[in-house]
Amino acid sequence: MLDALKDELLSQVNAASDLAALEEVRVTALGKKGRITGFMKELGGLSPDERRERGQQLNALKDEIAAAIDARKADLARAHLEARLKAERIDVTLPVRPETEGRIHPISQTIDEMVAIFAEMGFSVAEGPDVEDDFHNFTALNFPPGHPARDMHDTFYLPDAGDKKMLLRTHTSPVQVRTMLNKKPPIRVIAPGRTYRSDYDMTHTPMFHQIEGLVIDEATNMGHLKGCLVEFCRAFFDVDDLPLRFRPSFFPFTEPSAEVDIGCSRKGGELKLGNYGDWLEILGCGMVHPNVLEACGIDSTKYQGFAFGMGIERVAMLKYGIPDLRTFFEADLRWLKHYGFVPLDVPSMAQGLTR
Ligand code: DAH
Repeated sequence: MLDALKDELLSQVNAASDLAALEEVRVTALGKKGRITGFMKELGGLSPDERRERGQQLNALKDEIAAAIDARKADLARAHLEARLKAERIDVTLPVRPETEGRIHPISQTIDEMVAIFAEMGFSVAEGPDVEDDFHNFTALNFPPGHPARDMHDTFYLPDAGDKKMLLRTHTSPVQVRTMLNKKPPIRVIAPGRTYRSDYDMTHTPMFHQIEGLVIDEATNMGHLKGCLVEFCRAFFDVDDLPLRFRPSFFPFTEPSAEVDIGCSRKGGELKLGNYGDWLEILGCGMVHPNVLEACGIDSTKYQGFAFGMGIERVAMLKYGIPDLRTFFEADLRWLKHYGFVPLDVPSMAQGLTR
């Protein structure tokens, strides 16, 4: 008789098509009022010998049914998971949705390109705050108090807060200072970021972007500076024989200092980059002034290095033929659609920088 019950219950277990049906089977068999439980309750009325034998049979049956329920439960769970995985599958090989409209802003794209080039040369990216103090933005960079170069920067000062004079950084050079104060040489960093000056016309906006470079080591010299910038400019503008001209200049934080021009042609009102005899200024650079090294806790008799700084909008305008600086910040979707970049066009040296 128990054999018949066993067959019946097992077939119910196997027929249960989901977890709820299986639970019903469990209650029917093993629940408080279940059929096996019912037989258990009758054991009390049997003789001791009958009870032992019957009890063993019932326990064996109970265990077998419980095991069958567990196995079925595992099967159902697996089947459920498989069905879900199938239904929710994403084909990652599908092309990007052609209707996506988002574009990467030319500034972001240009920064990504610069980072890709300098990363290849072993530079890492350093960051600093937009709100700076006078020490990091000027004093540590060898701008003496009252020095006219401070006025040239058209600084936005913040309302006085305590003893520190706070301002919006006028260049990315304070990141040099922060890097040297926090890191021991050898140092090789670039620092792209926002900068601020109180100025507004065709070629100036109160917020713009710069990228700073800093290399400090025991034997770094001006030849390294030249090699680094020649490599960078040729890769960035994608002109293999792009000539560079280093013109003597002045910055408080470098000695000697130079401005760098790249070769171009302006014939017929069209600007072309390359070896055409005309010149266009694109960046400032020099050997880090010993005063700057010392202000940042670096022994200037042991270490030396170079630095450079470049306006990101300016080189982006040159590279991508964008005529007006102010349009970068007008958030005009038509402009962004025209000059922006498709999100998955990530610049890399291996795949080429753009498009
Ligand atoms: N900080 C300079 C500026 O904003 C740019 C610059 C020039 C940075 C020469 C440098 C450098 O690191 O060496 O005009």
